[in-house]
Amino acid sequence: MNVLIIGSGGREHALAWKCAQDDFVEHVFVSPGNAGTHLETKVSNIELNLNEFNSIEKFCLIEKVGLVIIGPEQPLVDGLTDYLQSKNIKTFGPSKHAAQLEGSKTFSKDFFVKYNIPTARYKSFDNFESSVEYLNETSFPTVVKADGLAAGKGVIICQNIEEAKQALDSIFNDKTFGTAGNRVVIEEFLEGEEASFIAVVSKDKIIPLATSQDHKAVGDGDIGLNTGGMGAYSPAPIVTDEIHEKILNQVMYPTMNGLIEEGSPYLGFLYAGLMIKDCEIKVLEFNCRFGDPETQPILFRLNSSLVELCNLAIDDKLDNYSIEWTEKHSCGVVIASAGYPEKYESNKEVSIKENNNEDLKLFHAGTKYENGMILTNGGRVFCATALGCDLKDAQKNAYNLVNNVKFEGAFFRSDIGFKGIK
Ligand code: AMP
Ligand code: GLY
Repeated sequence: MNVLIIGSGGREHALAWKCAQDDFVEHVFVSPGNAGTHLETKVSNIELNLNEFNSIEKFCLIEKVGLVIIGPEQPLVDGLTDYLQSKNIKTFGPSKHAAQLEGSKTFSKDFFVKYNIPTARYKSFDNFESSVEYLNETSFPTVVKADGLAAGKGVIICQNIEEAKQALDSIFNDKTFGTAGNRVVIEEFLEGEEASFIAVVSKDKIIPLATSQDHKAVGDGDIGLNTGGMGAYSPAPIVTDEIHEKILNQVMYPTMNGLIEEGSPYLGFLYAGLMIKDCEIKVLEFNCRFGDPETQPILFRLNSSLVELCNLAIDDKLDNYSIEWTEKHSCGVVIASAGYPEKYESNKEVSIKENNNEDLKLFHAGTKYENGMILTNGGRVFCATALGCDLKDAQKNAYNLVNNVKFEGAFFRSDIGFKGIK
């Protein structure tokens, strides 16, 4: 069978690489893909207009695509799954309604309250004046969030009332995030340690994936601006067995059941971003997709077939399914372009020293292949991912792999995994 992956990031390279490993998979197409997916065996890139759902449908029919996996949030929130499923094309991803868990902070926060899912106290606003008035009732720091999709940039942590006013002014009046800022959530600042809990959800079944932790801030020691994620590792020791149980019982099952109650059962990867403190958990956000860069270290540990897992989930056949992981630990270090997460340059030529070590994998993200050259094409350019007998070993191996990659302006955090090692 053939598989189509939608997206172009490191997550999609990892998804395509994993799908291509199954002997029963003839070919994996990625749209639009990157240089890494272009160079991968049994994988090729295809330019499809992702806004024209019928052109994706046509491609699937012509190429006999037996499974579509949608990587990023935008096409999910736009309803690509609903469209392809209505054309009887097997598609792994949530419906447009369920994807609002990520697509609208107001939707997700109201959902948490309705189904008693622990989260930060909040209030939602649709205009500047009332949101500013509310600041008199809040304590600081406080968190201002654009309601809609803002490419990971819509969350502003404000230390005082002036910063909060400025954030609200820029969202409501300057339209910094466009229509994503037509509404705003102001919420309580939570302290603790973050973890990513990602599961495959199929109607009334949940298959938790290996635990992981991302590093959102751009600088070592979690200092500086927030990014899409500068590196991740798996498993995450902060998610003890007890916390794991709590996440399932207080977050994942109530979400799954809530969506069933609303007539919109979930299908796809469901990602809960959590704050953990003193064994208590609170949900920071939901993503309706696999994390990036969490996908890279998580899939690197997965022994089971991803294509089989997705197909069983679509067919509602996950009873008695058992997922297999390697005991090894994994660590993924993002190599980014100078300036990221703000302005950065692209089109820098990349040189890569090849290696044949099966415990190392250089996943591409913002790269493209032109005239036989690999060029940078984004803020996050690679995720150097490695296995090791423990996290420290995986970290050492990942940083050795980082050293194999050179391009002008390349930078990376030098402490990925530090919380898990400490
Ligand atoms: P979100 O897109 O809601 O996950 O927010 C992005 C990042 O902002 C999170 O990973 C946290 O690091 C931070 N953040 C979001 N909400 C809060 C909060 N209520 N308290 C503290 N930090 C937060
Ligand atoms: N790594 C965070 C995210 O995928 O949103």
